[in-house]
Amino acid sequence: MSPIESRIDPASAEFKANYSAMEALVVDLRHELQRAREERADKARARAAGLGKLSVQQRIDFVLDPNTPWLDLAPLAARGLYDGTIHGAGIRAGIGVVSGHEVLVVANDPTIKGGALFPLGVKKFLRCQTIAMENRLPILMLVDSGGAFLPLQSEVFPDHDGFGRVFCNQARMSKMNIPQVTAVMGHCTAGGAYLPAMSDHVVQVRSTGAIFLGGPPLVRAATGEEVTADELGGAEVHCRESGVSDYMAQDDAHACEVIRDIFALLPRERPPGPARDPRPPLFDPAELWGIIPARLSTPRDVRELLARILDASEMLEFKALYGSTLVTGFGHIHGYEVGVIGNNGVLVSESARKATQFIQLCDRQGIPLVFLQNVSGYMVGRDYERAGIIKDGQKMVNAVATSTVAKLTVVVGASFGAGNYGMCGRAYDPRFLWMWPNAQIGVMGGEQAAQVLATVKNEQRAREGHAPLDAAELEALRRPILESTAREGSAYHSTSHLWDDGILDPADTRDVLGLALALVQRSPRSDHGQGYGTFRM
Ligand code: COA
Repeated sequence: MSPIESRIDPASAEFKANYSAMEALVVDLRHELQRAREERADKARARAAGLGKLSVQQRIDFVLDPNTPWLDLAPLAARGLYDGTIHGAGIRAGIGVVSGHEVLVVANDPTIKGGALFPLGVKKFLRCQTIAMENRLPILMLVDSGGAFLPLQSEVFPDHDGFGRVFCNQARMSKMNIPQVTAVMGHCTAGGAYLPAMSDHVVQVRSTGAIFLGGPPLVRAATGEEVTADELGGAEVHCRESGVSDYMAQDDAHACEVIRDIFALLPRERPPGPARDPRPPLFDPAELWGIIPARLSTPRDVRELLARILDASEMLEFKALYGSTLVTGFGHIHGYEVGVIGNNGVLVSESARKATQFIQLCDRQGIPLVFLQNVSGYMVGRDYERAGIIKDGQKMVNAVATSTVAKLTVVVGASFGAGNYGMCGRAYDPRFLWMWPNAQIGVMGGEQAAQVLATVKNEQRAREGHAPLDAAELEALRRPILESTAREGSAYHSTSHLWDDGILDPADTRDVLGLALALVQRSPRSDHGQGYGTFRM
């Protein structure tokens, strides 16, 4: 494989301007991440500390092996939603190493509305379970929750993807032999009682941990009986009498020790390691800041990104001379083989056909796919329709949907229209999907959406015998759509709604992909069967 040539001049004015623009975005991102981790009401902190609880961060730190990597999952979920304080949708989640095992950790945060589950908290919980199932990762739940957030209970409870789905998944994960460990470090109320009950191993903390179908407030309301949480479902009750819990811990720190002991005894899975020794890229990944244009519409060669992501900046480019608006090639990230697919312009028929063939090859060879999305969509217009752009897009979408190798997607710029589908958007089950802070997502760009609406309106007016929109009317129609597409297309909107697994500093992309590639080795193929649907020819 030969190294990708770079034409970037880090001393140029353009590089410096791009660098400053991205630096500002990354500074914002770090600030948001810190706020989500640390901003809590003093009253809630004091209450948790008074009960002798460790903070969520401490609980996680105590269970993880020291100096091992941690991959945060959806840390900015629910950002700006509800009352703006339900950081991470009330749940801290990520993948780390516990007693030598890669483990997905999900932890309620009792300092956010008593750990109550908001609709997006349920969505995040389900997303974590999906990641655990797809990658066959053991799961650790640090439970401390007042159950469903009652003012929004109808959005949390009965639907297909409501809270009940969590327990349904737990039963299926148990059948799949995916270990589930739960530490009861606060309350598990009502449906929440099934979290430990459906787990393989349950640790319960004395005096603060409690499990019951109806907590003291409900019992009082239902029967008038006055009973403490400890009497109703404390560790003594469940470790000594009911048998719901398996291990009694004296406090949070002790529970973390017991958790580590439980994981130490789990059978060791030894997924295949990297195909070759990792080698850093020839070009510093931090240079990505200076390469990504400040404006989404400014073109940039995706090979410049790949040169800062792939090992030794090396790529065997597949069909380099054909379908040039898409770059496909083989390379390595942290030693793991990958097939990369990156946009270099609008998708045309040749690029869609090239992608289809490339996906088939990677699928046959068992090589995971990495998609770098920066796509305005598939090409429109008379000639392209006549040439069958739809049927070539169909082949690409079909190959993405039905191939079984693991896929990882990073939205590095635009993600518009069916380009989002063909380039393995969320609906196509990439094992992980991340956004860069500059990324934009939507059916189409705001300007195009405004033009479409203006055309539709004017045609309607012409039919009805009215004059076209004047300048003021046009502006009144354009402004809201431009504003909403910008707001709802931003990386922050995406991440707060859990359309992705997090926003990445571009400079971290290579390392995060390396971690993800190590994880997908645990289950390299999805189980929807080999073969493809019908390719429209
Ligand atoms: N829905 C909505 N809000 C809830 C909630 C729920 N299920 N559980 C707790 N909260 C809120 C409280 O109103 C309070 O809000 P505030 O910060 O705005 O005042 C905050 O969470 C902290 O609750 P508080 O009771 O002060 O904390 P605590 O540490 O003493 O107790 C619980 C925490 C979870 C044990 C306790 O709040 C409780 O028993 N909640 C109700 C549990 C329940 O019966 N749930 C049934 C739903 S399935």
